[in-house]
Amino acid sequence: MSQHIYGIFDYHRLHQQFLHTIAYDALVWTSLHGLLVGDKSVQRSGSVPGVGLVHAPVALFPTPFPENHWREACELAPIFNELVDRVSLDATFLHDSLSRTKKADEFTSRLLDIHSMMIQINKKEEIRLGLHRSDYMLDEKTKSLLQVELNTIASSFASLSNLVTELHRYILSCHGKLLELDSKRIPANDAVNQYADALAKAWSEYNNPRAVIMIVVQAEERNMYDQHFVSALYNTHNITTIRKTLTEVDQEGEILPDGTLSVDGEAISVIYFRAGYTPDDYPSESEWRARLLMEQSSAVKCPSISYHLVGTKKIQQELAKPGVLERFLDNKDDIAKLRKCFAGLWSLDDSNIVRKAIERPELFVMKPQREGGGNNIYGDDVRETLLKLQKADSQEDAAYILMQRIFPSISATVLLRNGCWHKDHAISELGIFGTYLRNKNKVIMNEQSGYLMRTKVSSSDEGGVAAGFAVLDSVYLT
Ligand SMILES: Nc1ncnc2c1ncn2[C@@H]1O[C@H](COP(=O)(O)OP(=O)(O)OP(=O)(O)O)[C@@H](O)[C@H]1O
Ligand SMILES: [Mg+2]
Repeated sequence: MSQHIYGIFDYHRLHQQFLHTIAYDALVWTSLHGLLVGDKSVQRSGSVPGVGLVHAPVALFPTPFPENHWREACELAPIFNELVDRVSLDATFLHDSLSRTKKADEFTSRLLDIHSMMIQINKKEEIRLGLHRSDYMLDEKTKSLLQVELNTIASSFASLSNLVTELHRYILSCHGKLLELDSKRIPANDAVNQYADALAKAWSEYNNPRAVIMIVVQAEERNMYDQHFVSALYNTHNITTIRKTLTEVDQEGEILPDGTLSVDGEAISVIYFRAGYTPDDYPSESEWRARLLMEQSSAVKCPSISYHLVGTKKIQQELAKPGVLERFLDNKDDIAKLRKCFAGLWSLDDSNIVRKAIERPELFVMKPQREGGGNNIYGDDVRETLLKLQKADSQEDAAYILMQRIFPSISATVLLRNGCWHKDHAISELGIFGTYLRNKNKVIMNEQSGYLMRTKVSSSDEGGVAAGFAVLDSVYLT
């Protein structure tokens, strides 16, 4: 980055009074436009809409990102969509890759059990819907765009990311002259419309006009407005939504003789999971029964159990091994593009890598098979955990993978949280949404569908917004 460009993006140079005015405008804008989450300090804010709302944590200004890498990330979306679909059909690959993990990780084991049952009853998913988000960081030293992970279940922030883009365009259209920034350099973000469109199209492929879309939710969800924006949009096509927890699906659900899932008397065409990705969502057998019931039904599942398994960290690591992508894709250019964005990924049965990670733990991230943020291991904890696992000499090491740590460049950002702004040094992670819908041999949608920029203070290892580590952001193309 040239000195001049860095100068423009050094938001810390801006005067306190100016920042104060912009923060005030931003707070008004978020309230008027629904860039909101439930407020932790209000008890019912996660269960009753309209109660205890607070603006989502956001960056006050967009973060610079090189246009060529931006395009690279966008181009990868349809290729990853196709890859997920192909891998999901290869039951042998999924079970072989996850066989050691199964012994060490109870959660993955339960998911695999459901998958095995579906194979036994020869269950086929003809209509397949994927709402994915592939996350990347730009490694500063190598100037390469590297994938952090691919989410195939409950990919969040399609709606709020859309709004942050609009917020930043608004701020730049009011104050761009002073900032020397042009709002047109913030790429359009249509994630929420595309997610709603994909769900509506899946509903129409199912072809039962009386059936509804069911969103499977957590009992407490402070990020509920992100979900409601999506359903509000497809509801305009006269599609009805019901929201149910896994526990409720167990209590109210049944499969009718023709395979239709009925919940509380409603026929379900599409099941959109915004829960079910963490063991916490399955406190008893009831929730597992619900997951199995849904999987057995004819409803379109977003995701199906096999799409869910493709999104595990272990599968990400297996796909990065030499020769594996070739098993699923034919196009050499596509394979090369995917491989280029793979960071170093290793299984813990690779003793050379384990030794290296014990020597230089700061160069690695250790990941269990978990989603939702806050589960990864960094720094000296990597060394400690690896040594402990070596001593125990058990199967437990199969619960983890090791990943090359990516080091993005640090920017001077202004964060807005809980009505207060503050300056900090931060790194950013770019998520690209992807939508995929097919019915048998017909691919109905395979698109890149908007983006999510997340920015977190550079002293924090984890990146989750809901988990409280990061803020929502947008991209300023350089
Ligand atoms: N290889 C890496 N190098 C640097 N940071 C990383 C790496 N892998 C993960 N992180 C950081 O940790 C965060 C969480 O990692 P990851 O996305 O793998 O976990 P997750 O629990 O699936 O999160 P999510 O809720 O986003 O799905 C990332 O957003 C990123 O900030
Ligand atoms: Mg994830």
